[in-house]
Amino acid sequence: MRVVLIAGARPNFVKIAALKAALSGRSGVEVLTVHTGQHYDDEMSAAFFRDLEMDEPEWNLGVGSGSHAVQTAGVMTRFDAFLDEVATDMVAVVGDVNSTVACSLTAVKRGIPVAHVEAGLRSFDWEMPEEINRLVTDRLSSLLFTPSRDGDENLKKEGRPAEAIHFVGNVMVDTLLRFRDKAAQANVLGRLGVAAGEYAVLTLHRPRNVDTREAFVGLLDAFAEVAGRIPIVYPMHPRSSRTLTEAGLLERAEAISGLMMTGPLGYLDFIELEARARFVMTDSGGVQEETTVLGVPCLTLRPNTERPVTITEGTNTLVGTRGYTRWRSWALRTSARAVGRTRVRTDR
Ligand code: UD1
Ligand code: UDP
Repeated sequence: MRVVLIAGARPNFVKIAALKAALSGRSGVEVLTVHTGQHYDDEMSAAFFRDLEMDEPEWNLGVGSGSHAVQTAGVMTRFDAFLDEVATDMVAVVGDVNSTVACSLTAVKRGIPVAHVEAGLRSFDWEMPEEINRLVTDRLSSLLFTPSRDGDENLKKEGRPAEAIHFVGNVMVDTLLRFRDKAAQANVLGRLGVAAGEYAVLTLHRPRNVDTREAFVGLLDAFAEVAGRIPIVYPMHPRSSRTLTEAGLLERAEAISGLMMTGPLGYLDFIELEARARFVMTDSGGVQEETTVLGVPCLTLRPNTERPVTITEGTNTLVGTRGYTRWRSWALRTSARAVGRTRVRTDR
């Protein structure tokens, strides 16, 4: 049986690392990896294959950036041509990015079954492109692998048959636990000049937060206050660096004392930085999960999350992005408290 694994964007690489490890060496299964090329900078793509000890994908569709329609259609056209060439028994997709929905739709229209890993998550927020991708991908998939029980419930409510739903746990967490010890050997704190427990980490890439000058300026002002109390390490996603440059905000951000801006970090460096942080501020899906497992307090700068277990069982607090006063005062209080929390939770 030939299974084609799809990956296109940064979090996908972390997820397929677990799948490749689980599938390798299984008799009767051949795994091919197709990289759609949605993310392409070295630090958003190739660096992950090195850190995660994976071979480069056998195929790269090289789709690059574009509007949703251009990118989704580009992946579909190129993946269709791939399927013309390579006989495929099953397509396995992960997560909720444009590459996920594009390859699912292409495969299923050709009668090739689709397996979705990370099925069933819902933010119930149609303003998020990922919510549309999740819903459509799940509807197209005949095997639905859920990371948490809320995923099972959501799929059942949408009328998906119980036999198609398999609760398997979280592949991003599998990869985190696999690489946690190795990451601890990375000297990222030394390189950045920060001490364990004495800095915060920030990541931002949601369109709602970084696509407009107005939203970004409000956040920068709030970060400036927090950075006055505790250094903030901010590895910038290219989407946010683009807005900072285009909206003429780069100088303003660089002038914030205590805000340490870097390019995107490699996986091992990043998870080590997360693990040793006093707290994390983010709008990332994966970072909410990783901080939960690492036991590091996480402020999610979004009005909702598709990952409710990170709140009910984890360390995550949803703070929205507008009412700055509330989360800013939490961040300031937490900055002042000396806490040693670098334990890895293995009980979930
Ligand atoms: C995508 C996913 C999002 C996911 C995120 C993970 C969709 C709709 N969005 O968002 O769900 O959380 O990846 O990081 O699929 N760019 C570069 N270099 C790169 C890649 C992107 O400079 O290697 C820049 C380009 O200006 C591009 C922009 O980032 O236009 C956005 O990239 P895109 O892949 O469209 O969306 P992300 O914001 O990365
Ligand atoms: N990550 C990384 N370097 C960074 C920022 C994030 O390696 O500079 C990792 C992080 O540990 C997690 C994944 O990227 O495994 C999350 O990806 P992202 O936040 O881009 O996407 P999302 O999870 O929101 O879809």
